[in-house]
Amino acid sequence: MDWSTNRLCRLLGTRLPIIQGGMIYMSGARLAAAVANAGGLGLLGSGSMRPDLFRDQLRKCRTLTDRPFGVNVPLLYSHSAEILEIALAEGVRLFVTSAGSPRRAIGRLKDRGCTVLHVVASPALAVKCEDAGCDAVVCEGFEAGGHNGREELTTLVLVPQCVAAVTIPVVAAGGIATGAQWAACMALGADGVQIGTRFAMTQESSGHAAFKARVAAAAFDETMLMMKKHIPVRLLRNRFTERVAELEARGASRDELVELLGQGRARRGMLEGDLDEGELEIGQVSGMIGDVPTVAEVVARLEAGYAEAAGRLG
Ligand SMILES: Cc1cc2nc3c(=O)[nH]c(=O)nc-3n(C[C@H](O)[C@H](O)[C@H](O)COP(=O)(O)O)c2cc1C
Repeated sequence: MDWSTNRLCRLLGTRLPIIQGGMIYMSGARLAAAVANAGGLGLLGSGSMRPDLFRDQLRKCRTLTDRPFGVNVPLLYSHSAEILEIALAEGVRLFVTSAGSPRRAIGRLKDRGCTVLHVVASPALAVKCEDAGCDAVVCEGFEAGGHNGREELTTLVLVPQCVAAVTIPVVAAGGIATGAQWAACMALGADGVQIGTRFAMTQESSGHAAFKARVAAAAFDETMLMMKKHIPVRLLRNRFTERVAELEARGASRDELVELLGQGRARRGMLEGDLDEGELEIGQVSGMIGDVPTVAEVVARLEAGYAEAAGRLG
C-alpha cells in the first residue's frame, strides 16, 4: 500500500505510518534502527538510559540506519533536560515526549526546528498539546504496556474523541499488534499507530530472553494496571505484583507503595530477567503474542494483515 499522502508519513518522513514506541530497557539503537530500516519510525527510549549511554546509543543508531529515527523523552525523569540537550547537540530533530506537560520542553525544541509529538491519555490533554504547539499527539489507551493514564480510557474510546478534538495528526496507541488492529485505528480516524508490546517482543529489542519467553507464554488475562495511587503502570502478574495488590487492597498509602517499589525493579525484571521480583511492563495485547520474530517479520505481518483487513471491509 502506498502511504505517501498520509499526513503522519509526511510529518515523519517514513514509508509507513507506524511508530515504534519508546520503551525503557527495550528500545535501544538496535530496535530503533531495525524499525527505521523496515519503514516505520524507530524511537530510542531514553527513559532508562544515563546521559552517556544515551549519547552512545544515538551514535550507534546512526551507524545502523540512514532512515529517520527519533527519541522518546519521558519528561518526569530528573535527567530529561540533559537528555534533550544531548539529543539536540547530536542533531536529533524528532521527539516523542511523554509523562508530563509538553510545555516543559516544547519551547526549546520548537526554537531548534524540531518535530514534537506528545503522548496523552485523554482528549482534554490532546487539546492542550495542540495549543502548546505539538505537531501530533499519540493517544494511548490503557491497554498499553508501561505507564498509563489514570483515566483508564481504552484505545477504541479515546482515539475518536481525540480525532474530534484536534486538527493535528492523531496516532493511536495501546493494544495494536496486528494489521487488523492497525486498520481498526485508521477506521477510527487515526493517522497512524504507535506500537510498543509487539516491538518489545522482537529479536532486536534489548529485553532479557527470560522476559520475552515469559511474555510469549502469557495468557489473555495476565496483565493488570497497578499502582494507581503512585504512577499507574500495566504489569504482568508475578510475586511482586501480588505484594502490590495486597498493599493496595488494604488501602496502603502512596509512600508505602513507593517503598515497596524501591529502586531498579524495572531494570531487574525486564533487562536482568528476574521474573518474580522485577517489574514486568507489557501491554494487554501480550496475550495475543506467542513468538519473538525479527522486526522485519513483524512489519511484513502488519502490512499483510492490514491489507487483508481492509479487503474484508471492502
Ligand atoms: C516495556 C515497555 C516500556 C515502555 N516504556 C515507555 C517509555 O519509556 N516511554 C514512553 O513514553 N512509553 C513507554 N511505553 C509505552 C510505549 O511507548 C507504547 O506507547 C505502548 O507500549 C503502546 O501500547 P502497546 O504496548 O499495547 O503496543 C512502554 C511500553 C512497554 C511495553
